[in-house]
Amino acid sequence: KYEKIWLTFGTSALVIFLVILGISAVHQGHSPAASGIETINPEHVRDDARFKEPGLYESDTDEYDYELYFVASAFQYEPREVEIPKGSRVRIHVTTPDVIHGFEIAQTNVNMMVEPGLISKYTANFNKEGEFLIICNEYCGVGHTDMTSLIKVT
Ligand code: CUA
Repeated sequence: KYEKIWLTFGTSALVIFLVILGISAVHQGHSPAASGIETINPEHVRDDARFKEPGLYESDTDEYDYELYFVASAFQYEPREVEIPKGSRVRIHVTTPDVIHGFEIAQTNVNMMVEPGLISKYTANFNKEGEFLIICNEYCGVGHTDMTSLIKVT
């Protein structure tokens, strides 16, 4: 009889824990400046409207000036080059259809891991004019070191 009580107690505690976990996950999703993660089917990256023609798009929100979409794959980033107006606040979204890649913008604090099945996000302010190289910092195969793209802030 006591076992049943403990079992009920344990189950309710688990349910409460999961609910709290769910609530905090939702809150994090709405937090604007934080880096975030969203799931995506890696086999259908190209079917997703956002990653069909990756690049820079004006943001629908007031929080960012632009949304910047990148597809990282063995062994390149798309787009190969992107121009960003100086002073822009940009929400960056990166995903991959194949293996784990890195996404580091040299000379900035943007540095993310890109995993199949996930969209990695980061908010960055581009206040400095110049050319910034995007590099892959996770070993992803023979073409790893050739994997680059360029951001031009003008
Ligand atoms: Cu992609 Cu290393």
